[in-house]
Amino acid sequence: MKLKDKISVVTGGASGIGRAIALAFAQEGARVIVADIDTDGGKETVEMIKKLKKSAFFVEADVAESASVKNLAEKTIERYGCIDIMVNNAGIEVFQRLAETDEAMWDRVIAVNLRGVFLGTKYAVPHMLKNGGGAVINMASVAGIMGAGGLAAYNASKGGVVLLTRNTAMDYGRKGIRANCICPGFIATPMVTSIMAMPGADAVKGQVIGLCPAGRLGKPEEVARCAVFLASDDASFVNGHALVVDGGMSAGWEIEVEKVLGG
Ligand SMILES: NC(=O)c1ccc[n+]([C@@H]2O[C@H](COP(=O)([O-])OP(=O)(O)OC[C@H]3O[C@@H](n4cnc5c(N)ncnc54)[C@H](O)[C@@H]3O)[C@@H](O)[C@H]2O)c1
Repeated sequence: MKLKDKISVVTGGASGIGRAIALAFAQEGARVIVADIDTDGGKETVEMIKKLKKSAFFVEADVAESASVKNLAEKTIERYGCIDIMVNNAGIEVFQRLAETDEAMWDRVIAVNLRGVFLGTKYAVPHMLKNGGGAVINMASVAGIMGAGGLAAYNASKGGVVLLTRNTAMDYGRKGIRANCICPGFIATPMVTSIMAMPGADAVKGQVIGLCPAGRLGKPEEVARCAVFLASDDASFVNGHALVVDGGMSAGWEIEVEKVLGG
């Protein structure tokens, strides 16, 4: 029980990585507030947690909207009295090259992925400070540390998340708040499977897997275990870190060395 009785908020908890984190936190003894714009999915996550005989509730929240995120913090305080762990996980992805990126879509991606992390942190921090500290975990991406063709808005938003995380560590590290982010590679969630369902995606499926020394997509649970670590006292001296969870995808490049040596 690494998170016994900790009060945790997980945005984007209705699906994929957020759901896996909500479940992993509950299994480690945390009480979980699942926040999402997807009410059905969010309530389903809460039911899954309740089946584990753990405490959770759902709050409908759009992380891009200030009033909505403020309400999320207030509902959490009303119900549980404090916030120990804030996971800013909600995110969206749009697959378009820069010149074709629609301006409204650019604004939405930045609003959800970057402003959402800002707002989630802004409204959680005062409660953490009252409580003597806490842990902020932001969901960045390997696309926050590497360029990725066709992901202009996403790249920019996730790069912002990495540095906003470091800013949070600097602003509040001396007051007991640790802020870290996770940079997943390709993880098997609806975000990735929806891109893989696009016309023409069959041609690149092998490429996607080929980029990764692990030779497969990651599982949401593999990201969730890292979130448990960052949220727990095991990471008591880890602050401002960007933890890459990508099966080695961003570690470097590899050619077929045997062909060179053999040739
Ligand atoms: N799946 C991957 O390969 C991958 C890789 C790197 C980073 N990430 C990041 O991980 C996070 C989770 O992604 P996922 O793969 O689980 O995707 P997902 O689509 O399965 O889940 C995203 C969740 O965020 C919610 N959401 C979207 N907009 C929202 C908003 N405005 N307010 C509240 N909730 C909102 C969705 O309803 C959904 O439940 C995202 O930040 C994503 O960018 C995913």
